[in-house]
Amino acid sequence: MEILKCEGIKKVYGSGANQVKALDGIDLVVDKGEFVAIIGASGSGKSTLLHILGSVDKPTEGKVVVGGTDISALDKTQAAIFRRRKVGLVYQFYNLIPTLTIRKNILMPLLLDKKKPNQEFFDQIVKSLGIAGKLESLPNQLSGGQQQRVAIARSLIYRPALLLADEPTGNLDQKNSKEIIDMLKLFNRNFEQTIVLITHDEKIALEADRIITIEDGCIISDESRR
Ligand SMILES: Nc1ncnc2c1ncn2[C@@H]1O[C@H](COP(=O)(O)OP(=O)(O)OP(=O)(O)O)[C@@H](O)[C@H]1O
Ligand SMILES: [Mg+2]
Repeated sequence: MEILKCEGIKKVYGSGANQVKALDGIDLVVDKGEFVAIIGASGSGKSTLLHILGSVDKPTEGKVVVGGTDISALDKTQAAIFRRRKVGLVYQFYNLIPTLTIRKNILMPLLLDKKKPNQEFFDQIVKSLGIAGKLESLPNQLSGGQQQRVAIARSLIYRPALLLADEPTGNLDQKNSKEIIDMLKLFNRNFEQTIVLITHDEKIALEADRIITIEDGCIISDESRR
């Protein structure tokens, strides 16, 4: 089943002499349950693509459909709601709310919609991420690796159609990086969670089912490894 489809995505930043063509015609289909790694040199357009897939930013040209919704057609408010409910976003920095407990940080997307969590799923997530004992702590009482697990728990709580991760281990040591990737794999296998992950690390890319290489805003290789 197709979970993501984009056609002819172009993104141009700025205008005139300052114009930067960040994406130059990206066509991509991702099926439910795939674990895709995106690699490519710095400045090749990886983060730009991820932001467009996550409705954080709009393409200059082209169409993006995620879980059946044409996100290129959403207005700002619709895009914010879509982002909260249908995509999980994880970055190099964890972006937790410092004044809220870990429990509330994880539940935030649901709380914003005044929705009750599925307790069983919540327990399962925090247990598999190894943060069940930290729920009443504040973010600054956790290590970097633990904070990233909380950010991942938050990104998964809505059971998003798509988990998008931009260098999620960029700030972590090797041991923590490996653990985070192993956990993402676990969610991918156990819950058929679709994942698109940007990485600079070849070892991490080799953990994915599929490796896409971007150069100068174009896909230059798309290799299935399953
Ligand atoms: N907000 C912006 N305004 C203008 N140019 C931008 C903006 N964001 C990105 N760019 C440019 O678009 C191109 C692609 O940037 P992008 O951040 O997508 O690269 P990247 O592949 O994620 O690189 P890195 O590996 O360093 O994170 C670069 O030339 C960058 O300078
Ligand atoms: Mg980037």
